[in-house]
Amino acid sequence: MSFYPSEVIDDIRSGNDIVDVVGEFVKLKRSGSSYVGLCPFHNEKTPSFHVNQEGQFYHCFGCGAGGNVIGFIMEHENLSFGDAVKYLADRINYTLPEVSFTKDAQQKRELRQKLYDIHKIAARFYYDRLMSDEGRTAVEYLDKREVSIGARRKFGLGYSPIAKGALYNRLKEAGFDDDTIIKSGLVYKRSDNTFYDKFFNRLMFPIIDVYGNIIGFGGRILGDGQPKYLNSPETDIFNKSKNLYNLNLAKQARAGELILVEGYMDAIAIYQAGFKNVVASLGTAFNENHSKVMKAYADSVILLFDSDDAGVKAVMRAIPVLKGAGLKVKVLQVVDAKDPDEYIKKFGANAFGELLNKAKSHILFRAEQIQKQFDLNNIEDRIDFSKEIAKLMSEVDSTIEVDAYLKEVSRLTQIDVSAIRSEIDKLNNGVREIKNINRRTNTNKKGIDGAREDIINIVMANRRYYDIISQYLKPEELLEPFYIKILEIIYSLYSKDKAVDTQSVLDCIETPEEQRKFTAIFVKRIKFNEDEIIKAINDIVKNIKNSYYDKLISDDYTNPNISQLIENKRKANNLYISLSDG
Ligand code: UTP
Ligand code: MN
Repeated sequence: MSFYPSEVIDDIRSGNDIVDVVGEFVKLKRSGSSYVGLCPFHNEKTPSFHVNQEGQFYHCFGCGAGGNVIGFIMEHENLSFGDAVKYLADRINYTLPEVSFTKDAQQKRELRQKLYDIHKIAARFYYDRLMSDEGRTAVEYLDKREVSIGARRKFGLGYSPIAKGALYNRLKEAGFDDDTIIKSGLVYKRSDNTFYDKFFNRLMFPIIDVYGNIIGFGGRILGDGQPKYLNSPETDIFNKSKNLYNLNLAKQARAGELILVEGYMDAIAIYQAGFKNVVASLGTAFNENHSKVMKAYADSVILLFDSDDAGVKAVMRAIPVLKGAGLKVKVLQVVDAKDPDEYIKKFGANAFGELLNKAKSHILFRAEQIQKQFDLNNIEDRIDFSKEIAKLMSEVDSTIEVDAYLKEVSRLTQIDVSAIRSEIDKLNNGVREIKNINRRTNTNKKGIDGAREDIINIVMANRRYYDIISQYLKPEELLEPFYIKILEIIYSLYSKDKAVDTQSVLDCIETPEEQRKFTAIFVKRIKFNEDEIIKAINDIVKNIKNSYYDKLISDDYTNPNISQLIENKRKANNLYISLSDG
């Protein structure tokens, strides 16, 4: 996947000391052999983010983030591998060689470039139509919606004319072929082989990615009618689950906080009111990718959805997704208006600013939603309500916060804090019991993953261990694809007489996710002394082989080789590995 030869990657890595690079984003303090600071990937008050200079890797004991310097930039700046390499090359004024693409990759690149060009031309075309006589009704509509002249320009709003092939003709004139035009999603081919524009007689909203490329459009009907909005389909340049409307401008606000709204018009109204850090989801369900992208630019989010039931549902769905990305989540509901746009029209920008300050923790918002499900005059409902609140509180780490929330809930419901507290105590006892059961039943699974991780660490520690262990243990016997891959990488490095350390292994892992998993294994390594190691190797290898054969046997009872498998398992259990074997 990587387009650069490994020597180039080596240069980039050795030129960018991880402590320096991370230090540009995170305040680091030396502590023993590593540097520590507050993790940039999740919210924390006490530092659990470690940067190891000797090993040139980082790891967060809080959220499990980890990897090398390239992985750090990929995660932190939300860049692809290639772009992270470019970023780090720039940082040290290193001239990267021309990348050589495969023919496929080259074609894809050219297509994407053409699609960007098409969208640029289309946006210009729509904008010109808005400014022309043809655009008069659209201009009147914008006047009515109080979209300022400045905002029209800033957002590149336009108008798609009534003639259904107008854009198609413009794109042909610009020299694009039919195939490429269709791939833009802006033009369709009819069964009679004629072409027509996807958007006509609509107000056009260009959708722009974080790099400033126009990648699609939303088109609103002028006035009432269905469908209210049409949106570009997904294309080679438009991924709906990664892009957010206005993120390109919102990120420039560097506010540390983003306001997330539902609609194009809401985003524009809020921006125009002076709050530039607003983004809108693009009419698709808000998902993990969206929240990851947001986390790259902010630590907290204010969810500001419409005040109807659908809006509340959307908020409830978005909360766990945003929390999952490590964002702090606040919720705000507009009152006496159906959406933020209408609120600003009715009450003005100042009132909206005051409203923003009233955003409340998602916990309190959820408490209110829970309250709505119960009739608190009814004693049984009050108990059930308290139970639900107890569950909600189990998500809150700080006891001070729990106290504050409980006071607020008690104020709203007239239920004693002590009554809810007793439910929390009951729940905690229950949870403790479940945890105990899980501990009893999970040891096997934990144990086997632990064994796999231990063997990876042992093989990495010393070539001598590799020489011996590799005679007995095949990577596939680790069963889990990720562990198999890591052991294969390590074996292959040794067999090519390359250095085997965190760095060289990380270099072979390209996704930040897997880098993180690997770093997490590496930091868990235990130091064995020579006496212990041989016993450990025997125990671990046996353990791994046992589950390997158990799996093969249980996967397929009808396998004619089953007796062979059972025999192999027996042999594995009688195996004795000694250090002199190598
Ligand atoms: P809204 O109906 O709340 O849109 O839908 P809005 O932006 O407030 O529009 P106005 O104020 O009525 O002009 C929220 C978002 O859902 C998507 C659009 O992204 C819209 O901005 N949507 C809505 C569609 O994709 N298609 C539709 O038919 C309606
Ligand atoms: Mn609206």
